[in-house]
Amino acid sequence: MLLDAGCKRRVVIHCCTVEAVAKEMLSRITDADPELTMAGALLHDIGRSVDHSIMHAYIGSQIVQAEGMPQELVDIVRKHTGAGLDEEDVAEMNLPPADYMPRTLEEKIVAHADNLVSDNRVVEHTHSVEKLRNKGADRGADRIEELHRELSRLYGEDMDVIPERIGQYPDLPLARRFDLL
Ligand SMILES: [Fe+2]
Repeated sequence: MLLDAGCKRRVVIHCCTVEAVAKEMLSRITDADPELTMAGALLHDIGRSVDHSIMHAYIGSQIVQAEGMPQELVDIVRKHTGAGLDEEDVAEMNLPPADYMPRTLEEKIVAHADNLVSDNRVVEHTHSVEKLRNKGADRGADRIEELHRELSRLYGEDMDVIPERIGQYPDLPLARRFDLL
């Protein structure tokens, strides 16, 4: 679907890396629906086939919806940026009115797995926190820290161990299968 939508190889590899992080989270957070979470992790950036601005999340959700995918998956894609956007952010960024805040476990896992990936590298959560702080987006940065704490509790350990646990450049079976590496 990512390739058919026109995503660049680099975006697909990023999505596969987020999938690898989500898979590690799912190994210890067993209340989440694994298939839904993995599908969300893989498709979260499908909107980057069209636009790389903050709009890519909304655009991606529309692509996934047009493909006839379940609403839960549509919502994961729309809500994946940072640790979500509140009403103030949505108004400020002129986004189409909708809920952009991850609320289900699957939505939270995908959003935060993405926070732990920079391009094709698995990183600690401070990477995304600092990126937002440097842009002056302190509320967004605080939200990532809170989500990190919440999911780390469920994971049973600080999730900053993940880059070391699965490697900064984990194996990406799907990217291999599509000859993207
Ligand atoms: Fe994204």
